[in-house]
Amino acid sequence: VPEIGCLSIIVLGASGDLAKKKTFPALFHLYCQGFLPPIEVHIFGYARTKISDDELRNRIRGYLVSERSASPSKDVSKFLQLIKYVSGSYDAAEGFQMLDKEISKHETSKNSLEGSSRRLFYLALPPSVYPSVCRMIRRYCMKKSNLGGWTRIVVEKPFGRDLGSAEELSSQIGELFDEPQIYRIDHYLGKELVQNLLVLRFANRFFLPLWNRDNIDNVQIVFREDFGTEGRGGYFDEYGIIRDIIQNHLLQVLCLVAMEKPVSLKPERIRDEKVKVLQSVLPIKDEEVVLGQYEGYRDDPTVPDHSNTPTFATVILRIHNERWEGVPFILKAGKALNSRKAEIRVQFKDVPGDIFKCKKQGRNEFVIRLQPSEAMYMKLMVKQPGLEMSTVQSELDLSYRQRYQGVTIPEAYERLILDTYDPCPFLSLKYYCLQCLPLQLDKR
Ligand code: BG6
Repeated sequence: VPEIGCLSIIVLGASGDLAKKKTFPALFHLYCQGFLPPIEVHIFGYARTKISDDELRNRIRGYLVSERSASPSKDVSKFLQLIKYVSGSYDAAEGFQMLDKEISKHETSKNSLEGSSRRLFYLALPPSVYPSVCRMIRRYCMKKSNLGGWTRIVVEKPFGRDLGSAEELSSQIGELFDEPQIYRIDHYLGKELVQNLLVLRFANRFFLPLWNRDNIDNVQIVFREDFGTEGRGGYFDEYGIIRDIIQNHLLQVLCLVAMEKPVSLKPERIRDEKVKVLQSVLPIKDEEVVLGQYEGYRDDPTVPDHSNTPTFATVILRIHNERWEGVPFILKAGKALNSRKAEIRVQFKDVPGDIFKCKKQGRNEFVIRLQPSEAMYMKLMVKQPGLEMSTVQSELDLSYRQRYQGVTIPEAYERLILDTYDPCPFLSLKYYCLQCLPLQLDKR
């Protein structure tokens, strides 16, 4: 292990659901696959609950091993030993001073002490405490960084309730940290088939001429879950399905489906194209919105008795530009439905001058299934095999499980967390490490 600094990952809200179910398991999988940087790494949990290191470890343990990671218990124990716990409130100096002391105590590498310590603060917390937590981090937990060290913060949606509150939150955090230090993550962007959208659209000749209003009738972006709020009613009821799923996850997907080709793969250039799509979306018409609430939602003890928060919504978005004028983008999201599925369906127009009466049998459709069982398939008309000249709808099917047997598809959070630190510390110091270089090149 080269003596070249130290990475501390601090999970704030460590005893909450997100941390237990997503953040720690993602860190664990990165650890098992060797994707934590080859330097000194420490993981800290921070929350209000007063528990010991071992109590936190025991709470997390059961969530680490999933069906996709049959990691031996030796790995689990070694990983858990990396985790320390500090308790404190989210708005008082004391806890954060203690946290800083604890982190510093473990930053033993000589270079960390001289300024190359990297501190990643992951806020697995509700946005109402973001400003105070960021203030505390800024005031008490920042290290001088002159040898390639840094402090970064990771926040998730919901980022405010509306434009005003999102802008306010942004400016509050912006006063404390520079933009490159702030990682606003949306885990849908880490899903394999969402990541694949750019490649699919811009590396395949046959989609280029078809991807427009002349050929596409409508685009459906659908999210359905077969379970309800499950103890998260308190959070969910405050936000509803539109803020929970549509405004973030589905809009990100819509942007990737609808945007023009970015001039490069630099994050800023991709963002520019997404912003143009969003700026072209027309105001939504009342008659193009359907809202609903599943029966039994109010039985959840954490949901107010008279709540009318939607748990289901269909919204039609219309993009006013040359490529998409007249093509409805139908966004649907719902909880407690009859199945769990997230997919994009691109439905093509009918063939003009159809001599086979294909219309009756169905249109061409291109489906990208984000989950479960990642797949892409194209519904198309073929001749029914046999002596007769009749047509039938069939599929060109790329099912990931079959095609990429033996390849583990990373969890969305793994990919996003990996992007928040430099897996090769040498690169940030402008040296090249032969061991890590291929990894960096792959990532680019
Ligand atoms: C979260 C929402 O962002 O996404 C949850 O807050 C939802 O309500 C979850 O259940 C769905 O994520 P995934 O990756 O399971 O589709």
